[in-house]
Amino acid sequence: MRVHLNQAIAKLKAGEVVAIPTETVYGLAADATNELALRQIYTIKQRPADNPLIVHIGDVAQVLDWASEFSPLAQQFATAFWPGPFTLVLPAKATVSTIVRANEPTVALRVPSHPLTLQLLKESGLALAAPSANKYTQLSPTTAAHVLAGLGEEVAVLDGGACQVGIESTIVSVIDNNWQLLRHGMITEAQIAAIAGKPALVSTAKLPKAPGQHILHYSPKTPVKLFDSYAALIEYQQRSAKTCAALIIDDNPSQPLSANFHCIHLPKKAAYVAEHLYESLHRLDALNVAQLLVLMPPNTPEWLAILDRLKRAAHNV
Ligand code: TXA
Ligand code: MG
Repeated sequence: MRVHLNQAIAKLKAGEVVAIPTETVYGLAADATNELALRQIYTIKQRPADNPLIVHIGDVAQVLDWASEFSPLAQQFATAFWPGPFTLVLPAKATVSTIVRANEPTVALRVPSHPLTLQLLKESGLALAAPSANKYTQLSPTTAAHVLAGLGEEVAVLDGGACQVGIESTIVSVIDNNWQLLRHGMITEAQIAAIAGKPALVSTAKLPKAPGQHILHYSPKTPVKLFDSYAALIEYQQRSAKTCAALIIDDNPSQPLSANFHCIHLPKKAAYVAEHLYESLHRLDALNVAQLLVLMPPNTPEWLAILDRLKRAAHNV
């Protein structure tokens, strides 16, 4: 069910959940101080209780309502990247619900840049806990229609159009003036290091295990197989007895090979691919073929967040 801004605010204040747009993906939001509302998020998503939620705030001035410490380094990140697709994990105040932080001693905070959601946060004065508005392990939604298809028509959704960034925020923890990347996103490690003036505490070639990141994620229903070369993908498709569809990330569009082999082609521009990634996977998934094939982008820093999501889609991490 689609709701307007004022209805969304009324529902959230009454302790109901509402799916909200953000620039990354749609979130399933609830008042972050209302434990009954927070429990509904976990129930609707079928999300394990040990996977903490991100708290969305309308203004950096609210950080100290949630975090016990807002170090100079964390403040530099907030100034550089907020509002935007960037989440800060900081030491939590004891008053932060253990449901939000899944019993972690830390809390994840983000000021999103989507104008409608910023307006919602500012007008309501609420802080909103919001994980991506999909069932646990399934593809994240980047349109209101994805939310309704994934969670059911009875879920209230504030329609803010298609998400412009398209994949989940970069997550960085800051403890004792050191930083650590916890999840790749479109704000890259190099951009973060440039603001910090120093590298991450631990090399992020292999990311440390963040809560909630150790399990399957971002998966279409259809099995996904990844390829580094177009030739190998085509050879697989031609030899396979299965019905296939493909996502081709490449600058040279190739001819469709046969009428019953559906391909979505995305040019090799990381920001463009991120914006259209989940939409493309949702569309390919809806074809109900036996196998999705993906031609992977190169293994270079600007593509790390997209490679991460594709590997997870293929259960390859
Ligand atoms: O772009 C996004 O971040 C979207 C939109 C809706 O803001 N949200 C999102 O939420 O991706 P979700 O639930 O799919 O991912 C939140 C992740 C958790 O899985 C966990 O890895 C990390 O954030 N996280 C949250 N709180 C944390 C904490 N206290 N310590 C470490 N990681 C935390
Ligand atoms: Mg998610």
